Amino acid sequence: MATFTLPKNSKISKDGNVHKAADAKRVKSFKVYRYDPDTGKNPRYDKFEIDLEECGPMVLDALFKIKNEVDPTLTFRRSCREGICGSCAMNMNGKNGLACTTAIEDLKGEIRITPLPHMDVIKDLVPDFTHFYAQYASIRPWLQTVTPTPSGKERLQTPEQREQLDGLYECILCACCSTACPSYWWNSDKFLGPAILLQAYRWLADSRDEMTGERLDALEDPFRLYRCHTIMNCANVCPKGLSPAKAIAETKKMMAERAI
Ligand code: SF4
Ligand code: SF4
Ligand code: FES
Repeated sequence: MATFTLPKNSKISKDGNVHKAADAKRVKSFKVYRYDPDTGKNPRYDKFEIDLEECGPMVLDALFKIKNEVDPTLTFRRSCREGICGSCAMNMNGKNGLACTTAIEDLKGEIRITPLPHMDVIKDLVPDFTHFYAQYASIRPWLQTVTPTPSGKERLQTPEQREQLDGLYECILCACCSTACPSYWWNSDKFLGPAILLQAYRWLADSRDEMTGERLDALEDPFRLYRCHTIMNCANVCPKGLSPAKAIAETKKMMAERAI
C-alpha cells in the first residue's frame, strides 16, 4: 500500500555528528545515513571527512576506514568486495549500486550514502530483505521437472539453449533494480519487482525446466508481473549490466503467445 508521507520515526533529524580529518592532504566528505532503532531516536546524517591519500579507491574502502578508525558502530553489509555477493548494495549520491565496485573518484562533491530506497531499515545502511527473499522463494527458483533424469546422465543443453541463460544467470540478487523501480516502491506487497521477475524468467528460459505452464500461471495476475510499466530504472542501475526490463518483456511475450 502506497504511503505518501514519512512515518514520524523516519524523518531525518538535524543532530548528526561531524568528524573532521585532521592534517588531511586530500579531503573527501561522506554524508552517511545513521539509524539505530535501539536508541529510539530518528535517523540522522553523520559527516565524515576522509583523507583520500590514506584510503582505498572504492566507496566500500571509505566505509571500512570510517568503521575501523572513526566510528566502529557504523553498520553495513559486505562480503566479497568484488561485485559478486551483492551484499554491499546501497544508494550513493542518489543512485543504487555496489559500494565495492563504485569508485570514489566517480562521485562528485560530498558523497551521500543511504540504504537502498523504500525498504525497511534494520540499522544504518542495512535494509531488511525478508520480504524480498520471500518473493524470491515464491517463484520456486530451482529446476523443476516431471520426467525422470535420463539414466546415469545429466540433463544436457545445446550451446544455443545454454546461451538463452546469458544475461540472467549473472544476477547476484543485490536488489539495486527492485529498489530503484517506482512500481515496486508503491506496490512491493503485490508486484514482484524486476529482480525477482528476472529470476522467474531465468527458469522460464531454461530448456531443462518442465514447469513452464505452471510458472506462467503463477505470474498471471494484475500485480505480480503486469505492474511493470517499462520505466527502465532497473536496467539503468544494475551493477552487472543486466536488463530485468527485457526479461519482463520476454515473459509478457510468452504470456501473449500461449494465449493465442
Ligand atoms: S522497467 Fe518495469 S521493473 Fe524495470 S524499473 Fe521500470 S517498471 Fe520497474
Ligand atoms: S538484475 Fe542486476 S540489479 Fe537486479 S538484483 Fe540482479 S544483479 Fe542486482
Ligand atoms: S561486497 Fe560483495 S558485492 Fe560488494
